[in-house]
Amino acid sequence: MFDFEPVARAKLPPWHWAWLSTGGDGSETMQANREGFERYQIRARRLVDVSKVDTSVRLFNQSWETPIFLSPVGGHRTYNPDGELATARAAKSKRHLQVLSTVTTTSVEDVNAARGEPVWFQLYQRDEWGQTRQLIKRVESAGCPALVFTVDLLGGRNMEQFNRVSQRNRQQCGACHLNGQPLTDLRNRPMLNALSVSATPQPEIGTPTWDYVKRLKDATGMKLLVKGIVTREDAELAIQNGVDGVYISNHGGRAENSLRPTVQCISEVAAGVAGRAPILVDGGIRRGTDVYKALALGATAVGVGRPYMWGLASFGQPGVEAVLDILRREFQLIMRQSGVTSVRGIGATQIVDRQRS
Ligand SMILES: Cc1cc2nc3c(=O)[nH]c(=O)nc-3n(C[C@H](O)[C@H](O)[C@H](O)COP(=O)(O)O)c2cc1C
Repeated sequence: MFDFEPVARAKLPPWHWAWLSTGGDGSETMQANREGFERYQIRARRLVDVSKVDTSVRLFNQSWETPIFLSPVGGHRTYNPDGELATARAAKSKRHLQVLSTVTTTSVEDVNAARGEPVWFQLYQRDEWGQTRQLIKRVESAGCPALVFTVDLLGGRNMEQFNRVSQRNRQQCGACHLNGQPLTDLRNRPMLNALSVSATPQPEIGTPTWDYVKRLKDATGMKLLVKGIVTREDAELAIQNGVDGVYISNHGGRAENSLRPTVQCISEVAAGVAGRAPILVDGGIRRGTDVYKALALGATAVGVGRPYMWGLASFGQPGVEAVLDILRREFQLIMRQSGVTSVRGIGATQIVDRQRS
């Protein structure tokens, strides 16, 4: 999996690479997300019949062959001309859950068609409620079963590595800067460029709070998840406010530079959720053993962001497929090697926390 990173880097214009690879401030939290996995060791059991291993999980009422899913990443055409379509085809052929970003460069309808079934949709709220509602209605009409509200950038962020490169590099590429417009131009964002301004606009006052979450819940029949939760307190509030799923994330270390890896947030969030909702997690997951550790700590499903973008940038759809294959293979391998035959069997007794032992 790591071998895709330098290939992607070599293929992408420096500005695009900088956007993909940057973290917040000096990228220390992004690094911490990786290093966090080193704190946990695996307790392998022997002499268990592991000839058959079941990696499936249930999320709401759907069964998935694997707990590994594709986290929402904006603008896939930045990395490959086929963009989200290539990703959706890979997710389809490998049967993975895909979460589509609000700032996708392909419409939800086209992505759903390529995926062969509706994807989950990630929401960035709009400044005006009427527009947010339009967006929700559109994805609901497209059949998306779940809405993932991202809450970890509400205070803003500082992308230093990216800013440094982007100041030097003003290169435009035909594939993703549609009509010569920069990526940030909303005309290149099919989920946003069609939103109409309502006759009686209702601009938001302040940034979203839990009241906003309740408003979202009332506005849709889709399952509602909140992405960016990292504490027990917020996990409890999420459940109290009717959220259906809690998604632990620090935006791949692209939000605040907390130095706190997401893997170390799982136990406390799981304590707050107390079995009342599925827990998703992402951040720094690069190996099957990382997936395993996250599940052992209490996650239900585990997402990857940059890795499948490396695959996409390197080789398009087959690149995404190869990345997913590697992760799945490694995950099955560690299940077998540690004597576990189903995901349910991956629990607290399967790992050791080095800081506690
Ligand atoms: C280039 C890039 C774009 C992203 N775009 C979004 C986005 O549009 N919405 C969102 O909720 N998260 C976004 N994320 C965060 C991912 O969903 C995910 O939390 C993160 O990539 C996981 O960490 P990893 O990259 O170490 O696997 C983005 C991440 C990257 C690297």
